Amino acid sequence: MFTRLICISDYEQHAKSVLPKSIYDYYISGANDQETLADNVAAFSRWKLYPRMLRNVAEVDLSTSILGQRVSMPICAGATAMQCMAHEDGELATVRACRSLGTGMMLSSWSTSSIEEVAEASPETLRWLQLYIYKDREVTKQLVQRAERKGYKAIFLTVDTPYLGIRFDDVRNRFKLPPQLRMKNFETNDLAFSPKENFGYNSGLATYVHKLIDPSINWEDIKWLRGITSLPIVAKGILRGDDARQAVKHGLNGILVSNHGARQLDGVPATIDALPEIVEAVEGKVEVFLDGGVRKGTDVLKALALGAKAVFVGRPIIWGLASQGEKGVQDVLEILKEEFRLALALSGCQNVKVIDKTLVRKNPSAVSKI
Ligand code: LAC
Repeated sequence: MFTRLICISDYEQHAKSVLPKSIYDYYISGANDQETLADNVAAFSRWKLYPRMLRNVAEVDLSTSILGQRVSMPICAGATAMQCMAHEDGELATVRACRSLGTGMMLSSWSTSSIEEVAEASPETLRWLQLYIYKDREVTKQLVQRAERKGYKAIFLTVDTPYLGIRFDDVRNRFKLPPQLRMKNFETNDLAFSPKENFGYNSGLATYVHKLIDPSINWEDIKWLRGITSLPIVAKGILRGDDARQAVKHGLNGILVSNHGARQLDGVPATIDALPEIVEAVEGKVEVFLDGGVRKGTDVLKALALGAKAVFVGRPIIWGLASQGEKGVQDVLEILKEEFRLALALSGCQNVKVIDKTLVRKNPSAVSKI
């Protein structure tokens, strides 16, 4: 019997039932004991909403801007790698779903459709490129220039991955790409994480990162990146106020508060708990975004109330893709949009500009337990 999928957790359960185990394991996993993985979601419940009443919410406007570009809502598709594992249309389905919703897509450098293919699938859609810094700087430079040429509007530089975190199931499964796929932005089999290459007996992706990604990157390399592109650059993976200030000092244009979907260092805080310190530290000089654990419209409202300009969703996009390709991603984004619209209205907000930090407070019982 067909069951209607009406919330993000429905999509998650459905995706689990249709995806091959090792692929589902790759997407669902967090690092090590997955303490942070659970906390990313649970932490939202520790913040309580304090709505205002009798505010005329007959019309509610969800639109906002991200780094100067208009979006229909402050909810965008975050970068998740190798989306053709979830559905054969992969990243092309995601960008088309974002077009339908009038929102933006962050493309992973490790996509199974190329920078150019995604741009051509939906030229008018707001797109950004997520970036890693390779030991061979030329590889990174090429990615940045290709994105710039194809109209991507910003670079989201991942700063939390000098090495890949340990995901136990990927180690057990010796995770690698299915035979028909490769990372489409690269020519050679090693760079393309091709299953034709031998990536060893652990997580193949961890081996890939170890071989190719530069663990020595530091703030000096930010200057190098700043020098090769005129696009805005956002630091993706900041969890401390002092790092956020460093990013601003080095000319970065935004901060994405992220713990990489809890897939890197286990034991770090939930992103919603890390957000306030970072918002305070940057003093409004750059836009601050959040990803990690966003599964509901009220999560979006809480993140905005604590100072995020917008949020990115990662796994929910994968669950939508796995369930129904482009339509599934569109549905997932629509569910989040309508839940967010209702959360705004029931909180007495006519638009996102009137969201303020008095709308949320840390649940006192959660605080006293610490
Ligand atoms: C991961 C990388 C690809 O978390 O972002 O698996």
